[in-house]
Amino acid sequence: MKGVIFDLDGVLVSTDELHFNAWERLAKELGINNFTREDNERQRGVSRMASLEVVLEKGTHQYTEEEKIELADRKNSYYVDMLQNLDDSAVLDGAIDTLKMLNEKGIKTAVGSASKNAPLILEKTGLLPYIDKISCGLDVTKSKPDPEVFLVAAKKLDIVPEECLVVEDAKAGIEAAKAGGMKSLGVGPFNEELGADYHSMTLGTVNNWEEILC
Ligand code: BG6
Ligand code: MG
Repeated sequence: MKGVIFDLDGVLVSTDELHFNAWERLAKELGINNFTREDNERQRGVSRMASLEVVLEKGTHQYTEEEKIELADRKNSYYVDMLQNLDDSAVLDGAIDTLKMLNEKGIKTAVGSASKNAPLILEKTGLLPYIDKISCGLDVTKSKPDPEVFLVAAKKLDIVPEECLVVEDAKAGIEAAKAGGMKSLGVGPFNEELGADYHSMTLGTVNNWEEILC
């Protein structure tokens, strides 16, 4: 492997709670008082506008496209406000050690995330110096399971997809890696069910990097 492309939320950092709080606040403002953590799970890895649909499904009101854009912008402003207080305590187990190990081996690193806030999150959590390239919601038009965000990452790294490993915590992300012709490592609570080539609970519990990177 010449490059490793990391999903951000749920792989390198934990921002789920902040997304949940921001969506829940918006939902309440819209009179939707039963937005749950299970609903929030369905927003994992999907774009901001698709995440909004998960919230609106819980209500009965029909919104125009223009109104939906205002609602998504409003949620994002709540989320970005919370991101100002983000620090390295949001970095997940094994993330820094893994990035350092790859940097030392000369293996290139990238982030491949649906989030348009990926650059800000990487800066706030102190991960930016370990990442060679960022491919995020600002670079793509298609969401995972479409491989676009990972193909853009590979292109930015100047490495062919076959020489890239994707690390993901979402099924749609593993499907995107496969569609892009990349090997995958699944992490997180559902790591065994993601259908990845390799799996581990966290980056810190991977014990076969030699095999994965060969
Ligand atoms: C993904 C999250 O990383 O980014 C999704 O898992 C989120 O829940 C998506 O909707 C878009 O994020 P943002 O920061 O651009 O609203
Ligand atoms: Mg994720």
